[in-house]
Amino acid sequence: MSKQWVSWSAIALAACAATGGNAFAQDKIKVGFMLPFSGTYAALGNAIENGFRMHVTEQGGKLGGREIEFFKVDDESDPAKATDNVNRLIKRDKVDVIIGTVHSGVAMAMAKAAKESGTVLIVPNAGADAVTGPMCAPNIFRSSFSNWQTAYPMGVVAAKQEGKKNAMTITWKYAAGEEAVNGFKEGFEKNGGKVSKQLTLPFPNVEFQALLTEIAAAKPDAVFSFFAGAGAVKFVKDYHASGLSKTIPLYGPGFLTDGTLEAQGEAAQNMLTTLHYADELGTPRDTAFRTNYAKSFKLQPDVYAVQGYDAAQMLAVGLKAAGGDIAKKDVFRTALEKATIPSPRGDFTLSKAHNPVQDIYLRKVSGKENKKIGIASKALADPARGCRM
Ligand code: PHB
Repeated sequence: MSKQWVSWSAIALAACAATGGNAFAQDKIKVGFMLPFSGTYAALGNAIENGFRMHVTEQGGKLGGREIEFFKVDDESDPAKATDNVNRLIKRDKVDVIIGTVHSGVAMAMAKAAKESGTVLIVPNAGADAVTGPMCAPNIFRSSFSNWQTAYPMGVVAAKQEGKKNAMTITWKYAAGEEAVNGFKEGFEKNGGKVSKQLTLPFPNVEFQALLTEIAAAKPDAVFSFFAGAGAVKFVKDYHASGLSKTIPLYGPGFLTDGTLEAQGEAAQNMLTTLHYADELGTPRDTAFRTNYAKSFKLQPDVYAVQGYDAAQMLAVGLKAAGGDIAKKDVFRTALEKATIPSPRGDFTLSKAHNPVQDIYLRKVSGKENKKIGIASKALADPARGCRM
């Protein structure tokens, strides 16, 4: 046995004795937020951080017995900067857990870095199908959804319930928009509809006029679109101002109207969307969450706040099982794979690929709320195409 080893173990033993046998008791868990705090998705990043912090505060500032130290990087929803940004957290700050992000293109770079370094990653929004598909890994989890998961049910509803036959789609040209459109198309065409044309514009461009003119000329009987944040506010208002909403209903995953209704006002009324959350679900769990959120932040919560809150709940489950020691990766992972997360959206479990298995609600905009009017798909699991774990 080398002298070096003896002296290190003596120090470790002394540390254990000083902390009542738990060498981790004094260290904080380092949590790195990598989120958009500027640009079209800034409000989404803030809601996720608020939700996460609210759960930590509710637990007295500790998760799994450990205090938390926060680190923050603004990823600007820019995939070109994503690898450098995530390495700031992994290599410079040496965080134990990364919470991020909103944008699917950025999330893919983060998943690659997390897979290589083994750092725990909990994705509190970005729906990139690949994160819980080909890039799935024992240390990567999602508290939100896959892009397919929130859009496929809307395709089914549009065809079966609304009787639409011919739809056009419009979105930003990047993974989230493309995967949402594919999910809608799959659900719509399996049930007798046809997507006649797919329109795109670069992220985060909001010059919609030429594309709206193209829709008006083609006269489909429905339009499906993926936009979110400030871009969704502008799109829904422009669609309404063009007069199209009078004759051609606009559908989407619920991001089109979540966290945006204050700004969209009249333009969003009566819109139908599908999502894993709705305002005022009326369960005690959701009501308690909404009340505390409104009190803490003087804001109404939205789906992003819920996903941030649940990312913290997931971290707590894993840490608790591992006795606060995040290095016990297998224990951490197994605990999450077996857990039921008591989310404000309703209880959910994680699939083998670590994506929520959850109810997808059908919602209708009424005033400033996305009201639940039904369940579009019960306990829907993402197919996790390409995940080997
Ligand atoms: C994504 O890029 O995956 C994304 C962004 C914003 C949303 C939903 C998905 O609201």
